[in-house]
Parts: sequence; structure tokens; C-alpha cells
Amino acid sequence: MRTMGNAFQRLFTFLGLLHYGAAATSLAGNWTLVQQGLTGVSGLQLAVVSETKAIIIDKVENNALMVDGHIAWAVEIDINTQEVRALDPLSNTWCATGSFLSNGTLISSGGSPIRITGEDGLQALRLFTPCTDGSCDILEDPTRIRLTSARWYPSSVRIEDGSVLIFGGSLLNNYINNATINNPTYEFYPPKNIHGFNGLQIPSQFLNDTINGNHFPNLVYLPDGRVFISANTQAMIFDWKTNTETQLPGIPNGVRISSPFSAGHVLLPLSAENNFTPEILICGGSTVSDFADPLTLTSQEPTSSQCIRMALDEAGIAKGWEVDQLPEGRIMADLILLPDGRVLVIDGAMTGVAGYGNVADQIGQSNADNPAFMPVIYDPAAPLGSRFSRDGLIASTIPRMYHSTASLTPNGTIMLAGSNPNADVSTIMYATEYRLEFLSPPYMAVERPSYTGLPATFDFNSKITLDVDLPEGTKDVKVALMDLGFATHAVHMDQRLLYLDAVLHEDKTKLTVTGPPTPALFPPGPGFLFVVTDSGVPSFGHQTLIGTGASPPVDEDAIAKYVYAQQDDDAAGCAVVLAAGAEAPMSVECSNVASAIMNMLLI
Ligand SMILES: *[C@@H]1O[C@H](CO)[C@@H](O)[C@H](O)[C@H]1NC(C)=O
Ligand SMILES: *[C@@H]1O[C@H](CO)[C@@H](O)[C@H](O)[C@H]1NC(C)=O
Ligand SMILES: *[C@@H]1O[C@H](CO)[C@@H](O)[C@H](O)[C@H]1NC(C)=O
Ligand SMILES: *[C@@H]1O[C@H](CO)[C@@H](O)[C@H](O)[C@H]1NC(C)=O
Ligand SMILES: *[C@@H]1O[C@H](CO)[C@@H](O)[C@H](O)[C@H]1NC(C)=O
Repeated sequence: MRTMGNAFQRLFTFLGLLHYGAAATSLAGNWTLVQQGLTGVSGLQLAVVSETKAIIIDKVENNALMVDGHIAWAVEIDINTQEVRALDPLSNTWCATGSFLSNGTLISSGGSPIRITGEDGLQALRLFTPCTDGSCDILEDPTRIRLTSARWYPSSVRIEDGSVLIFGGSLLNNYINNATINNPTYEFYPPKNIHGFNGLQIPSQFLNDTINGNHFPNLVYLPDGRVFISANTQAMIFDWKTNTETQLPGIPNGVRISSPFSAGHVLLPLSAENNFTPEILICGGSTVSDFADPLTLTSQEPTSSQCIRMALDEAGIAKGWEVDQLPEGRIMADLILLPDGRVLVIDGAMTGVAGYGNVADQIGQSNADNPAFMPVIYDPAAPLGSRFSRDGLIASTIPRMYHSTASLTPNGTIMLAGSNPNADVSTIMYATEYRLEFLSPPYMAVERPSYTGLPATFDFNSKITLDVDLPEGTKDVKVALMDLGFATHAVHMDQRLLYLDAVLHEDKTKLTVTGPPTPALFPPGPGFLFVVTDSGVPSFGHQTLIGTGASPPVDEDAIAKYVYAQQDDDAAGCAVVLAAGAEAPMSVECSNVASAIMNMLLI
């Protein structure tokens, strides 16, 4: 049976190559889906942190799982055994963003002021350094380390020096952003003293222009060191080094693409074959007005099936967005890059908007209805009109809508977690979802390549030689270096696939791989390296730190001025906060005062 399958596959591969030249090949066949394990907290935020572990972060709610005598809202989970270890962040992580630094530490930033237990998380900056021995936890030290401004629903992206850019969000928790609660600024961690803001937040016109529907903007680090950013109906290229925004063609046909009209977005695979030209794909969204009172909306609002794609070189931008259609409308779809270069579109809802407790006819509390149970595959290498396929795919029976997440695992399966369109843990429709699922592409069921010899760090332009064991009949391989990202609200911060230069030795037992050409192509930090056969079958993706593993640069000037700004709180009536000592995070008001003082000093 298997030999037959492989023979057919090779024929398919051959035919495929005839049509699409250098395009990646994928293995045809049936997918499988298993429900396995419980997450203990609902999967609002998900990131694979090592070859065996993932971190799952929820909002503070009445989960049954306890830690240190109180309810838990974050866990480390073993991907293979699904064993859960409760973690103990200090503040409310709802709805934070996450990105890894160059040294492998994950930072979670922003959150919610709502307190059942725990601290106000609006200005939180949490650090998690992954471990394999059960000793690591989420660290918070709010009097020393925090954002310089409050952020609910911000996004983040790791940049080429290994630090993280944190962008947008609201000053308060709300269904949708608006001009009063908008935080139209960005900042870095570690802070940077640039553009005259002394390590404090820097204004962004784009975040004013995209009110109201600009929560969780889409951020993608580009090979030229700038950042693609899209939100609501607009897109731009942001140059953080010069603080300039360059407008791109807007989203066609009035479709809104960020929360609560969450579309999925992804940077398509980068390779030398396409000259590392970045191409952005955005699928789904909604044409509902972002100024509509949610009480005038319903959970049955149609969603958009529009899937748009644009190459971000001169010719691509001149051509504008190419419009394609998903088989059905979706919001809150997760777009997952597979090591074979395709994109899995999964989860979300076919009607309504994101969030809960807002629209007139909530289902339970959900603002959305008609879960999208059936995933679809997008093949970027196929011609327009035949890029979507459901061949061999399988539907879930578990609704995964608002507050659900998905991620590729190092072994090549897709981990599906969460869904909780409710204020707290709920058993009514649509209930808080703790069940974990694993979706296996057809490549999980055949003989797979394997390799050894990946060092703990893999520097730019350096060469390593791996020992490879390839399935019989393999003619050539590709090497996919992947950032599996940090998933929340249908946005996968930092998700990326870069094909590396790789030369298979004559006897096919050794493979020489060259590290990424530049830090902008793959910002230094954690990466998973998959060896993929010419039949589209990937190895296990071993983890390494791209770059040297060094911590991101610290701008002493930014830190010194930032500390000074905090001390000046006293003069502005914020002494109470300081007197409360180490436990009290700086209030939003105090931070704003601090920012204002800094701004006054600047004038
Ligand atoms: C794939 O699934 C379909 C439908 O269940 C079945 O008819 C077919 O035989 C399966 N193919 C393989 C190769 O298992
Ligand atoms: C923005 O939302 C907040 C919180 O719901 C509300 O108090 C405020 O009036 C809103 N502002 C605008 C301009 O809609
Ligand atoms: C954004 O809007 C706010 C409120 O109207 C204003 O104070 C701020 O200066 C604006 N920022 C930019 C960069 O336009
Ligand atoms: C990875 O998946 C393969 C199936 O392709 C399985 O045999 C193997 O045990 C898995 N390895 C790990 C570490 O999960
Ligand atoms: C990574 O860098 C951050 C910021 O300097 C630091 O807080 C963290 O401890 C570092 N992590 C490791 C593993 O060195």
C-alpha cells in the first residue's frame, strides 16, 4: 500500500514539477484528526516554546486548575504527553501579545485591567525563558519592567536586532477600539531612545487613521528591515528606523481585516527562488461597519470570503492586491504555514463578529455563530483560481471561534486549542473549550526523513553539515527554517518560513546548510529547521537559535531616561503608587503623567 502511495506520489510530483517548476511539492492523501489531552486553561494564546513544550495562556477566569492556592490562567503543556504544568503570572494576560527575543526568552506584553485575582495587566511585560525540566515560570517585576503605556489588544514583531516592536492597542478593554481609548503609539522592548521619545511610546498616524477596527493589527517583518502593517481597511509599510509610514493599496471591497473583524494573515514562504520577495496573504474578515453599535449587529452577519495577496516589491505594489475567494466566508481563521510551503486555513466562524456579550442575538454569549469546522488548504504555488483544496481534509466537531488558537508543532502536526466566547468559564453554548486536538497532514503517515547535527545556535551565513537519513527514492531536499510564532486572536505574531540554501552531498547522507543571509530575512531568535523531501515530506523540526543567541541590545540612554520619568511621578501626585512598593504596577494615569513630563522636558 505504502509503496504504491509513494509511487503515485512520485508521479504526481513529476507532473507537478512540469507545471510549476521550482514550486514546493506537497504529499497528497488523507489527513487525520485526534482529540487528545486537556489544556487546563483555555487556549487564548499559544506558542510552541521548545521541541517538546508549548505554552498556553488564558485570561484570568475561574478555571478549575489551581496554582499556588489560586486559579491558574497559564500552563506549559507537553506536546507529546499533554501533561500540563500550571504557570503563575502575576497579572491578567487578557489580551496580551507575545514574541520571542533573540536570546529565546518569550515576552508577553499588555493585557487587561480586569481583576478576579492577579494584577492589572494593561502595562505588563512578562518574561518566560523556556526550559525542559519544569523549573521555568512567567516572571513579572512590574516596578522595574513594564510597558511605558497601557495596551489591550496590541500586536508585536521581533525585529532584526532581536528586540521586539510592540504596536497599538487600547488604553482600556472594549469590544472595539475608538478615538478615546486608542493608544496610537508603539514602543520597543528593550526600550530604544530613538526619534526623540527617550524610550517612551512613539506616535503612529496609521493607528489614528484606522480607528475603530484596528485591534491586533497584522505585523510582518520584511526582508528590507521594514514592517508590513495592516489593520481595518488599510495597509502600510512602516520604517521603524526613520519613523515613516508608506501607504499601500487598501484592502479591496471594503473588507475589514482586524479585530473584531479578524481575518487571518501570513507572510508566504521566502526563498532565493523568488528573490526573497515578501508576499502577504490575508483571508476573511467582514464588511460590517466599525462604527456600528454592536447592539445593531447580529451573530448571523455574513463574513467575507475574500482572500487577498500582494507581493511587496515595486511591481507587486503597482499591481495591487490580487483577489481570490475562500470556499466560504470566515472570521477568526488561523493561517498556519506548513513546512511544505502551503497554508492551512482553519477554525473561526462563518457568521457574526469576534468577541462576546456585544451583539443583539448572542449565542450563549458569542458574537459569532456557525463555526467553520472544515479547514481548507491554500497552495501559493498553484495558479489563481485553483489554490484552494480540501482533498483529504477532515472536519472537526469542536467549535473553535473567539479565543481559539492553532500552531504547527515541531513534528509537523497542527495543534488546535481553545475557544471561549464567554466572560468567564461557561458550559452553555459555545462552552469554554479545554480539549486539545492534533491534525496530521498526510506526510505524518509515511516514511519521513530525519537528521542530526543541528547546533544550539546557527549564525547568519554560517555553514553547518547535517547527517541525514532520507526515505528511499528521495532525489533532493529543501530546508525550511520556520518561526512557529505566537498565536492569539487569529494573528500569528512572527510566523515565518525561510527556505535556506542547502546542498545534498552525492551519497545523500550529508546536507550542508547555510544560515539565513541577513537578520532581516529571519530576525535572530528561535527557529525550527525542517528537512523536506522532494515528495513534500518533512523531518521533525529541531530547534535552534538563529544568530548567536545573544540578548537584544540595551539602550542605556533609553533606560536611564525612562527610570527618571518614573521617579518624576512623585511630583505629579502619584506618590501613592510608589509608596505601595514593589507589588504595585504603575497606574495608567501615572504612566501617562510620566510620559507627559518627558514630553514637557523635550519641548
Ligand atoms: C481517504 O479517505 C477517503 C474517504 O474516507 C477514502 O475513500 C479513501 O480510500 C482514503 N484514501 C486513502 C489513501 O486512505
Ligand atoms: C470609546 O469607548 C469607551 C469605552 O466603551 C467609551 O467610554 C467612549 O465613550 C468611547 N468613545 C468614543 C469616541 O466612542
Ligand atoms: C492621534 O489622535 C490623537 C487624538 O485625537 C492625537 O492626540 C494625536 O496627536 C494623534 N496622533 C497622530 C500621530 O496623529
Ligand atoms: C513524530 O511523528 C511520527 C509520525 O510521523 C511519530 O512516529 C513520532 O513518534 C513522532 N515523534 C515525536 C517526537 O513526537
Ligand atoms: C533575554 O534578554 C532579556 C532582555 O534583556 C532578559 O530579560 C532575559 O533574561 C534574557 N534571557 C536569557 C535567556 O538570557
